[in-house]
Amino acid sequence: MKLIIDVDTGIDDALALLYVLASPEAELLGVTCTSGNVEAAQVAENTLALLDLAGGPDIEVTLGRRVPLTRPLMTAPETHGPQGIGYATLPPPSRAVSPRHSADLIVDVARRAPGEVTLITLAPVTNLAVALEREPQLPRLLKNLVMMAGSYRSPGNTAPTSEWNTACDPEAMQTVLSAWESAEGVGRPVVLGLDVTEHAKFMPDHLAQLHATAGNPQANRVLQFIDDALRFYMEFHSRYDGFYGAFIHDPLAVASALDPALLKTEALAVQVELDGKLTSGETVTDWRRVWNRPPNLEIGVSADIETFFARFVERVGGLAARIM
Ligand code: BDR
Ligand code: CA
Repeated sequence: MKLIIDVDTGIDDALALLYVLASPEAELLGVTCTSGNVEAAQVAENTLALLDLAGGPDIEVTLGRRVPLTRPLMTAPETHGPQGIGYATLPPPSRAVSPRHSADLIVDVARRAPGEVTLITLAPVTNLAVALEREPQLPRLLKNLVMMAGSYRSPGNTAPTSEWNTACDPEAMQTVLSAWESAEGVGRPVVLGLDVTEHAKFMPDHLAQLHATAGNPQANRVLQFIDDALRFYMEFHSRYDGFYGAFIHDPLAVASALDPALLKTEALAVQVELDGKLTSGETVTDWRRVWNRPPNLEIGVSADIETFFARFVERVGGLAARIM
């Protein structure tokens, strides 16, 4: 499966990238970085360093627009740490970021293999909105779009009703929805909101399983990274969400993109609140079909979390064992 992944690495973005690198069916053609959890240049540095660590040193990594379309930049150091990877540290990357703009990578790669490339976004969708400006036919050129974004039936995590990736750049999210809506005959984007991703709770027991799968080697660099990154993320969740563990939103999104059988979806009409005084960034969802407008998203409503975690442990543990 040919993939482009858009990230704001980010602890769970990092775990998602490890999952993809550990997945034999995935062919990762590029990683586009955007500001979100941390500023974009730091996102790129984290991503390049992680690819060095985990066996993806040749995968192109790009930067794009550094700020949301119209709003001031927000970052989340309290959630992901000042560098975006919790307590983990990585050696400086062996190479520089690509000179190509993220939007150009998305457009060029999609044009070169029309109908073959799946784009997975794990961050505010600023890069994708810019790519749509440059190539309005993008919805037709991509095979599929899978996004971690929004909160459709449950509370938000940034404001009472809005989720981080949508709250950071609501105009970009609405741009994406409108572009796919107007591309007749193109499949609806698949979206995983907090409704499903907050079921993917990574607990200390999962960490123990990961160590056991990797053979629990001393000083394994991949395990060390995961331990140090997740310790920060778990401490954050213990302060704000009442459990010592962590929601791993982004890995569930990539796992569901690679194997759609993991996710049950429902087709619904969604628009993004752009003006609300209290609800800016909310993904307003017409559950009762009162708008009488065609559905524009396939919303994840439940996920096979047990299979997801078994696969995560097996794949990422296996990758760690191979890298030593
Ligand atoms: C999303 O926000 C980010 O902090 C995470 O990386 C994830 O993509 C969850 O709301
Ligand atoms: Ca993310």
